[in-house]
Parts: sequence; C-alpha cells; structure tokens
Amino acid sequence: MTMKRIGVLTSGGDAPGMNAAVRAVVRTALSCGMECIGIRRGWQGLINADFVKLDSSSVGHILSRGGTILYTARSDDFMTEKGRERAVMTCKMLGLDGIVAIGGDGTFRGALELSRLGIPVVGIPATIDNDVGCTNYTIGFDSACNTAIDCIDKLRDTMQSHERCSVVEVMGRNAGFLALYVGIAVGATAVLIPEQEFDIQKNVIERIQASRLAGNTHFMIVVAEGAGSAVEIGKQIKEAIGIEPRVTVLGHIQRGGSPSARDREIATRMGYYAVKAFAEGHGNSIIATKEGDIVDLPIEEALAMKKHLQMERYKIMEAMQLGSQISSRD
Ligand code: F6P
Repeated sequence: MTMKRIGVLTSGGDAPGMNAAVRAVVRTALSCGMECIGIRRGWQGLINADFVKLDSSSVGHILSRGGTILYTARSDDFMTEKGRERAVMTCKMLGLDGIVAIGGDGTFRGALELSRLGIPVVGIPATIDNDVGCTNYTIGFDSACNTAIDCIDKLRDTMQSHERCSVVEVMGRNAGFLALYVGIAVGATAVLIPEQEFDIQKNVIERIQASRLAGNTHFMIVVAEGAGSAVEIGKQIKEAIGIEPRVTVLGHIQRGGSPSARDREIATRMGYYAVKAFAEGHGNSIIATKEGDIVDLPIEEALAMKKHLQMERYKIMEAMQLGSQISSRD
C-alpha cells in the first residue's frame, strides 16, 4: 500500500532528541511525498483526536531543543479496548495510513496493540534509561549521561573543598545503564545499580575506607534510582563511619536540555529509517541500532528481546577504584 499520510507522536517519559526525531520523520515524509500529522500527548492524543498538521516549518529550529513539541503523556485509557477503538477511529477520521511512535517499551506495547487492530506502527526508541531490549541505544541516553556528568563534576568541586562524601541519585527505575556509564565517567568511589546485588558494608563503606586510606579526602557514590534511595544510603554511611554525606537527587533535570551531537545524529537517522520502513512496506516494526547500523525489527520480536547491562563495565569501574587505591599507596 502506498502511504500518503502518517501520524507521529511522542509518548512516555521525554528524552532529549525526541524533537530531532519528530523533525526527521516530518522532513523525510515530505521528501517522500507523504503528509505528516502530529498527534499531541501520546496515545491519549490519538484517543482524543488531539492533532496538529506538521509542515516543514513546524519542525524548524527544534533540532537543538530538549523536550517534545508534541507533548507526551502516559495513557491509562489506551490500555483499554474501548480507548484503542477510539484511537483507531481517529486514525480513520484523519486518514492516517500509519503512525510513528517515539518512546520506550510502554509506548511499543501500545504500538503492538494498535497494529493488531490494523493500523501499521513503526516505533523509534527514545528514553534516557536506555532500557529497550531490542536496541543497543535509545535516543536521549547520551544527553542524560552528559547532564549527570556535568552536575557531578560541579558537585565534586565543592565536595573536594570541604572534604566531604557525596551520594548522588541518578534516574533509572529498572535499569542501571545511566548510573554505571556516569559512574565510570566521573570516577565514582562506588556505583549501585539494580542489576547487581550489593552489600552496603562491602560495596560502599569499605570502599570509602579504602579510598580514605589511600589518601583521598572526598568520595562520590552514584546510586541508580532503582537500586535504592540516596537518602537512605547516606544515612547508612553516617551510621557506619560517622561522616555526614551530602545527598543530591538529580531527578528530572536529566531528562531536559539540548540533545548531544550523538542524540541529534541518531534521532535523525532513526526518524529517516522509520519513514523508509513505511515506504518499503515494513510497517509494524521497531527501529533499532545494531552494531552501529540502523535496522528495523518486527514489533513482536522486538518486544520479546532482552538487553542486559554489560557487566564488563561494572568490572572496569571496580578496576579503576582498586587501581586508584594501589597507586596512591605506592
Ligand atoms: O524516562 C524514564 C524515567 O526517567 C525513569 O528513570 C524514571 O523512574 C521515570 O522516568 C520517572 O518518570 P515520571 O516522573 O515522568 O513518571
């Protein structure tokens, strides 16, 4: 079937680079002779027929902007059969031949349901958590890492001056990608992630003590939100060794800001391939990165795929800590 008009939406937690992906979808669609309609506020917007016509200028100057011009939401109504039927009615009313859905796993589960009702959907992975099973990379991850690193570098300055311990909580409800990458990049004293069981005494207290013996006077503990509360970890450090850590929860600041070069580039490529997937008759797929290339995978297959945090990185982070202690003593 020749696609004449497609819809594009962003759903779930926003991520820097979503706008770049929307722009790429619109501009690629126009270059292929298709029209593009923006659906606002994710799947809920499709239910409510909340839409905006997108032309080339509607996506001008958004490449460098964080957030999403289409707004985003999490929709309970779309979980119901009735809600999805209304979404199909909107697609018919607007004459949409397919939808590009930009978001994470939750967004793609919605995409699968809609595709089962006969509306072709192509998904583009975007979440700062990088926790979508079928793809090595999700739009927004690099920018969020850079934001967290920038904040922690600033924290380190003041921790160093006051010879303090900092406990920083980064986002990642179920995944430790952000915490581990950031922990490596800031040279953290300890990193706690949901994928790796830990013991406060062994993995935090003893590391601070070893670091102190090696001559360090300030300590940086990075905690993924899904591994525990930074406030609690701070309390436990105080109880165990008497030092009073300063706790910082970076929170939603990590979801904002101008996307990095990597996120702009990958979002543009993914947006392009999403429209090409439609043009080539591969509706009902998810765009993914595989060893640097962009591929499209059937939605069902993609949703069944699992991604594991490369624990090699955890070992590398530990080797950096151990190495720093040994070299200081020698
Ligand atoms: O975007 C994913 C994520 O950042 C998680 O790491 C976090 O737990 C969640 O979003 C919080 O999102 P919200 O506050 O929008 O529900």
